[in-house]
Amino acid sequence: MKDILTAPFMVEMIRTTTNMYDHGWDERNGGNVSLMLDEAQVAEYLDIKDVLRTIPTGFIAPELEGKYFLVTGTGKYFKNIQYAPDVNLGIVRLVDKGEQAELLWGYADGGKFTSEFPAHMMSHVARLKVNTENRVVMHCHPANLLAMTYVHTLDEKEFTRTLWQMCTECIVVFPDGVNVLPWMLCGTNEIGEATAEKMRTARLVVWSQHGIYGAGKDLDETFGLIETAEKGAEIYMKIAHLPLVNTITDEQMHQLEKRFDVKAREGYLS
Ligand code: 13P
Ligand code: ZN
Repeated sequence: MKDILTAPFMVEMIRTTTNMYDHGWDERNGGNVSLMLDEAQVAEYLDIKDVLRTIPTGFIAPELEGKYFLVTGTGKYFKNIQYAPDVNLGIVRLVDKGEQAELLWGYADGGKFTSEFPAHMMSHVARLKVNTENRVVMHCHPANLLAMTYVHTLDEKEFTRTLWQMCTECIVVFPDGVNVLPWMLCGTNEIGEATAEKMRTARLVVWSQHGIYGAGKDLDETFGLIETAEKGAEIYMKIAHLPLVNTITDEQMHQLEKRFDVKAREGYLS
C-alpha cells in the first residue's frame, strides 16, 4: 500500500488549502473544501474495508451512495493542514443513502467533517447533474466578495453584471454568472438545500455577509473561479465610491463571448 500523503489528490488538497489561507480567504477555521475521489484512487492507498468510525451526516443523499470524499475537518484551521493533514482532513465514504459517513482515514484527534457538509454534499449532487466531471466544492470567506454583499444589491443579474464589468476575464471564467443567497444560518440542511438549488444554474453561489461557494472539476479550476470573482469584487470595492467614467459595454461582452466561445447567462446581456 502506498503512502497516502504522497497521493496526488492529497498533495493538491494541501497545496490548495494552504494557498487559500495565504490569500486571506480562510481566517481561523473559516472555509471548507470537499473533493470527490474514485474508489480505485483511494484503494491504492487505503484498505477500503477498514472503517475507522461511522459518523451520521444528518441528511439523505442517495445519489452519493458509495462515493468517497476528501474533506476538511470542522473547526480546523487551513493554516495547519500542511503540518498535520491527518488531523485536519478526512476521507469518508457515504453509505445508507448518504445518512452515514464511514471514516477511512484522518480526523485523527476524534474530529469530523466540516459543519457545512450538507451544503457540500447537496452541491455535489446538483453539480454532477449538470456536469458529470464535477469533483470539487469549495467554500471560503474572501473579503471583497463579502464586502460587496453589504453595499451592492443582491439581485443576481445585477450582482453578476457588476462583476463581469470589473475585469475583462470575468465573463469568460464564469459566463453562467454568480447566484446569491440572502443571509441564512450556516451549518444547516436548509442552507445546504438552498445552496444546491442555486448550484443548478451557476458554479458560484454567494452567501451574503458570509462568503462564497464554488464548484468545479478540480481544485485548481475551482480555486481560479473564486479567485477571478474575488478580483472582480476587489475592483468594485476600489471604485464603487468614485464617479464611473468607463465600463465594459454589453457590445464588448458579446465580442468576448465570440472570441472565447462562451455563452453568457440567458437574459443577462442586452
Ligand atoms: P467548519 O470549521 O465547520 O468547516 O466551518 C467553517 C465555516 O466557514 C462555516 O461556514
Ligand atoms: Zn463559512
